[in-house]
This record gives sequence, C-alpha cells and structure tokens, in this order.
Amino acid sequence: MEPTNNDVIAIALPKGRLLTPALELFEGIGFSRVRELVDSRRLICEDRDRQLRFLILRPADIPTYVEHGAADMGIAGKDQLLEQRRDVYEPLDLGFGACRLVVAEPAALHKQDDPHSWSYLRVATKYPNLAEAYFSRKGIQVEIIKLTGSLELAPLVGLAERIVDLVETGRTLKENGLVEVEEIARATARLIVNRASLKTKYRRVKDLIEQMRERVETPAAGART
Ligand code: PRP
Repeated sequence: MEPTNNDVIAIALPKGRLLTPALELFEGIGFSRVRELVDSRRLICEDRDRQLRFLILRPADIPTYVEHGAADMGIAGKDQLLEQRRDVYEPLDLGFGACRLVVAEPAALHKQDDPHSWSYLRVATKYPNLAEAYFSRKGIQVEIIKLTGSLELAPLVGLAERIVDLVETGRTLKENGLVEVEEIARATARLIVNRASLKTKYRRVKDLIEQMRERVETPAAGART
C-alpha cells in the first residue's frame, strides 16, 4: 500500500522530568501548541491541524505503547529500553535527561564495605533485569526486591541493604544518607518508533525523525526556524 501523508501520528510523551525538554523539542521543530495541548490533566490530546495526537504516559510504559503500536513514536529513557528490551526502532539519541544507573548504599555501611568482597546482596530496584545481569556478570548472588519508586527509602527501613537506581543530580541519594558505590550504565532520552508505523506512515514518521535530528544535532539552527 502506498504510504500517505495524512495519517494521524500518535506520540507518547513521558510525565515527570523528561516532559519539559520533550515539549521544548517539539516547540523547537515548530509545534508551538504542544505545551498548551498537554497543559492539563487530560492524558490524550490532539492537534487536528497537524494530525498529531499526544499521549501523556508514565515513562516506564512508553516502550510498551510504542512496541504494540498504540503510539507510533515516543520518548523513552535509555534505562527503560535497556531494562525492557522492547522491539522498537531507536533512531535518535535526544541528548537530554542524562542520568546514571548506580549501586548505592548507606554512608555508614560504605565506611566498612568492600565491593570486592561481595558474594551475596539484597538489592531494591526498579531495574530487576539490569541489576540481575550486572551482579551475575560479577559472579555475585543477588536477591532482587522489585519496587516502583522512592527507592532511597528501602535501605533506611531495612528492606534491602543496597539499591540500584538512577542518579541525576545526586541530591536524592545525599538527602537520604546514601552514597554511590558503582556505576552500571549511563542513559539519555531516546526517540523510539513502532516498526510497523515506520513502514505504513513512512513519510510523516521519517520527516519527524529528520526534523528532530536536525534540532538535536544543531540546536541553534533549529531555534531560528
Ligand atoms: C528518580 C530516581 C531517584 C531520583 C534521582 O526518581 O529514581 O530517586 O530521581 O534524581 P537526583 O539524582 O537528581 O536526586 P523519580 O524522581 O523519577 O521518582 P521515583 O522515586 O518515584 O521513581
């Protein structure tokens, strides 16, 4: 079937700290109404003139929506892509949302701890697959306690001695008396695309990817357009 330019493109945007730079990116490529559109409690909104639909989702759910085609494209953290291993096309590193996945523990424990002596650990994390793989590569047995947020609390109440979590500024670790021990991975926000949409809505999807690429690679030039 001949791909058309007229299909609505559904774009999944992440709630939370990636939302502002994601909106700036869309504004930067000419979608001046995007902020007004998503500036409410509505989780789906449409720019009819431009044939765009925006879905506002929890960051961890975006790869699922894109893999299943409920969104044609989306913005997701590399941390979630590494953890979930979804079958999506990942054409672009957007550069923003830089953070690191680290192992952290209470400062008091850190004083007498030697990571080289670890043989068994209990670790709380939102990233069970990445944590398991990391410790298994090092030959360390690990009990994973899967949580969905406020990870820094776990060592303070004895749920787990250590956590594997994202660090951006380091402020949350510090304010909860934790210190970073090891770095597992680095992450930034990525553009992801549903593989079928890339074929069936080729021109519009490709145009959006190229506009974003230009904006990300030459932000000053993008700002003038
Ligand atoms: C993330 C992460 C840390 C915090 C790190 O949590 O899980 O808790 O941000 O940021 P910082 O280094 O700049 O302090 P998020 O804010 O997404 O909330 P959550 O605890 O509900 O996952």
